[in-house]
Amino acid sequence: MDWGMANRLSKLFQPDGNCFYLPIDHGYFQGPTRCLERPGETIRPLLPYCDALFVTRGVLRSSIIPAGSKPIILRVSGGPSVIGRDLADEQITTSMEEIIRLNATAVGVSIFVGSDYERQSLMNLSSLVNECERYGIPVMAVTAVGKELEKQESRYLALSSRIAAELGARVVKTYWCKDFDRVTTGCPVPVVMAGGPKCETELEVLEFVHDGMQNGAVGVNLGRNVWQNPHPAAMMRALYSIIHEKAKPKEAFDIFKELKNKG
Ligand code: 5RP
Repeated sequence: MDWGMANRLSKLFQPDGNCFYLPIDHGYFQGPTRCLERPGETIRPLLPYCDALFVTRGVLRSSIIPAGSKPIILRVSGGPSVIGRDLADEQITTSMEEIIRLNATAVGVSIFVGSDYERQSLMNLSSLVNECERYGIPVMAVTAVGKELEKQESRYLALSSRIAAELGARVVKTYWCKDFDRVTTGCPVPVVMAGGPKCETELEVLEFVHDGMQNGAVGVNLGRNVWQNPHPAAMMRALYSIIHEKAKPKEAFDIFKELKNKG
């Protein structure tokens, strides 16, 4: 592996091999998502426990201070909006020149396996891998489900994750599901978990993240379950304890409650 790729991968994973990514890319198809109206303000108290930000170039330029920034995973696919015809109809939005100019540590692209745009999204991934590998930039594939949330089950997610890895993704982001080991066992590259819509309780989030880590995930890319929580910094710290400090869900929940009570 060339130095550039090895260097970038070393920024994506901490020395323990795990990672805590903070996604703030939701606006690229959802507009001003609740609690993410001003992304720069939302993330300020959360940055100490985040290993990388997942963000579009627009929010990066407008809201993230370049000096001392966390590693950037640049979201480079998009096109349709949440009120449009089909969320799967994505293309690559960001040129290679721009990816390099922004000094991205990695890039992220969605794939929509089983959708009307399956082939298009898989070719988006493949073309991006072809280009990014030339410059030593890792590609993270996002196994997206659009509005079909019922696809969040192990057979489908294992299929999507494996295809993403086969096409050259260096990291795969997918949803946690029951029997998560079926997803990680069949995927030869590191798997990180996305959160999906906000869960009802904090403990529920801590439990699924812990289960995923026990079953082969290397970390999370968790957005709404962090920054839509009334106590986002406490939630961030509690999740960090599971990802990097081997805490159990109850121990992490104690950390959450203690910080919440301190305000
Ligand atoms: C949005 C994304 C998000 O990065 C991903 O879904 C994680 O965020 P959340 O935990 O809020 O689901 O890819 O397109």
